[in-house]
Amino acid sequence: MHSQASSTKQKPIIVALDYPSIEQAMKMANQLDPSKCRVKVGKELFTRSGPAIIESLSAKGFDVFLDLKFHDIPNTVAKAVRAAAEQGVWMVNVHASGGRKMMECAANELAKVVDNRTLLIAVTVLTSMQRSDLVEIGLDVDPQEHVRRLAELTQKSGLDGVVCSAQEVAMLRKIVSSDFALVTPGIRLEGDSSDDQQRIMTPGSALALGSSYLVIGRPITKAASPMAALLAIENDIAQA
Ligand code: C5P
Repeated sequence: MHSQASSTKQKPIIVALDYPSIEQAMKMANQLDPSKCRVKVGKELFTRSGPAIIESLSAKGFDVFLDLKFHDIPNTVAKAVRAAAEQGVWMVNVHASGGRKMMECAANELAKVVDNRTLLIAVTVLTSMQRSDLVEIGLDVDPQEHVRRLAELTQKSGLDGVVCSAQEVAMLRKIVSSDFALVTPGIRLEGDSSDDQQRIMTPGSALALGSSYLVIGRPITKAASPMAALLAIENDIAQA
């Protein structure tokens, strides 16, 4: 595990590079300052570009969150996480519902990587899932209760944090340690378009409640000036 405290305060913003090609992703990255933000590479971009996108972003000085949400048998997930660490990614994730053995195996594998600096976090319940969706897959539980249970399991399994909704941060901060990272998407400034996000929160409020990192896509990537949008977000954080 790594200490989150200092780096979080300095650079809490992770810009989601949700693009279908390396060219488009790098065009956006070239407008951003790696001393002001980190970046997230998801399934579409990685499936199209492969490790080249990680190399290009790292060469520019960006910390890369590889958001591939691994979920498989323990050995397979552990090897995938190791591959990410060996490519120098800053953060990688798995599905907590893969269970304790899968998460422990992944964390142990990372610990074996020489000078490992990669953070390993887990997704709890996908925010696209409602109670009825959980019931359909045999989980007759309140989604919030399930988030709580999976976050506890993630911490016990030795991981560095979870992805969660900003609405869950206050509840989770009461049960996880202060250096356990809470990574929150669904962030918007007052007056921003909410796009397809159902429940949103401002950057300043999310951090004040105990969020560690903010995943922000369209408010920055669709802005006329992405760096100006990033500075407006930093302003909101400074005022909170
Ligand atoms: O553009 P926007 O700020 O909505 O992008 C948010 C990013 O966070 C996207 O990459 C999206 O896939 C991701 N995400 C999310 N909600 C989750 C988990 C991830 O919006 N629960």
